[in-house]
Amino acid sequence: MIEKLKVYGNQKVNGTVNISGAKNAALPILAAGLLSENGLQLSNVPPLADVSTMLSLLERLGVSYTPTRDAIHAMSVCLKTDSVDNFIAPYEIVKKMRASILVLGPLLTRFGQCAVSMPGGCTIGVRPIDFHIKGMEALGARVELKDGYVHAVARKGLKGTVFKFPVISVTGTENLMMAATLADGTTVLQNVAKEPEVVDLANCLNKMGAKISGAGTDVITITGVASLHSVKHSIISDRIEAGSYAIAAGITSGCVNLIGENLRYMLSAFIEKMSQIGLIFSDIPDGISVKCVGKLEPIDIETAEFPGYPTDLQAQSMSLLCLADGVSNIRENIWENRFQHVAELSRMGANISYSASHAIVTGIPKFTSAPVMATDLRASFGLVLAALAAAGDSMIDRAYHLDRGYCCIEEKFSKCGVLVERIR
Ligand code: EPZ
Repeated sequence: MIEKLKVYGNQKVNGTVNISGAKNAALPILAAGLLSENGLQLSNVPPLADVSTMLSLLERLGVSYTPTRDAIHAMSVCLKTDSVDNFIAPYEIVKKMRASILVLGPLLTRFGQCAVSMPGGCTIGVRPIDFHIKGMEALGARVELKDGYVHAVARKGLKGTVFKFPVISVTGTENLMMAATLADGTTVLQNVAKEPEVVDLANCLNKMGAKISGAGTDVITITGVASLHSVKHSIISDRIEAGSYAIAAGITSGCVNLIGENLRYMLSAFIEKMSQIGLIFSDIPDGISVKCVGKLEPIDIETAEFPGYPTDLQAQSMSLLCLADGVSNIRENIWENRFQHVAELSRMGANISYSASHAIVTGIPKFTSAPVMATDLRASFGLVLAALAAAGDSMIDRAYHLDRGYCCIEEKFSKCGVLVERIR
């Protein structure tokens, strides 16, 4: 039976949340373990469903690993990568998680071959991988799409090149950066993603012996090396999880201490907008605290690549703006279909109209509870937020979406005096 999450209404979020390691840093860094035969030792890895999926993919390729649960919200993983003997990433794993495409670059540059299933679309859009493919061809690989798989070969190894992304792509940047670490010569990647997760991957690769400069800017230069070695690396804090719980304080007029590193820097665009709505942020020794005491002001939000407003906080922000005192505009500029949560929020009484990428949110006094369905991992958290503030208790179907991006949600909320229950 598909799990549901029961969310009791009229709750206030008051307490402390230990922010886990960033899912979108952990996934590429786990894939980077394939680049070295000496393995990788990672800490502050988030215990998420997507991390388990990536670990099962690595295991299928011949990697063995030892996980250690260090805390409820964090684990360590030691990867052993000296017996990688399979270069096929199968559909049954890739279809569960698009980020599986991140094994393409490491397998190709270390072993000269791989076959990675095409990921298929998902609810937030078609999500093509043409930049990944064009980039590998620019590095000298021969790529063929056959039977739903990307077959890539580079018998003589990859060669440094100059490649400009037509559109900024986070995992595209990460895949090509990893492929270039063992290429012959220098690679210059232009119009790259500047997300903190890209920088965390570059920092880990450089600790492994790679020669990468420019991560966090528009141009990344990679000078190929012969091999990479093992290293210990701790994953950065998850800015999207932190922003999600910040909104939980805002939407319930509560106060939450977010324990994590570099949150104010990583969330600067988000904090600027949330402050305009009426949330108050203040630094505390090991993170930031967020509270909301007055009414919520309407604002306009436009998602953009980092350092702009994160698309992965768009759905959660919409839930908050549903309770603002006026009309807000949300423009989703990254994904072509990331308003799936509008229909579900409307079932809870929200007043939202939208076209392709522009939603107009007119504030209402309160959500009403209703059975709703999660559609993607970030929208699912937006529904939890609305349900916490609703009059009455709500049931959220397909709660497995939540577990892909948010670990131990019941425990983290219960530490803030909030009851959410898993119904099996
Ligand atoms: C990453 O996805 C994140 N996932 C997403 O987070 C995030 O929403 C997205 O970046 C944007 O910030 C991971 O890091 C694992 P893109 P990614 O390539 O890399 C187009 C979450 O909630 N494009 O940056 O798949 C694409 O269609 C997830 O944690 C191409 O056209 O996104 C989109 O319009 C959801 N061709 C735009 O670029 C390509 O080859 C940005 O996509 C690649 C991308």
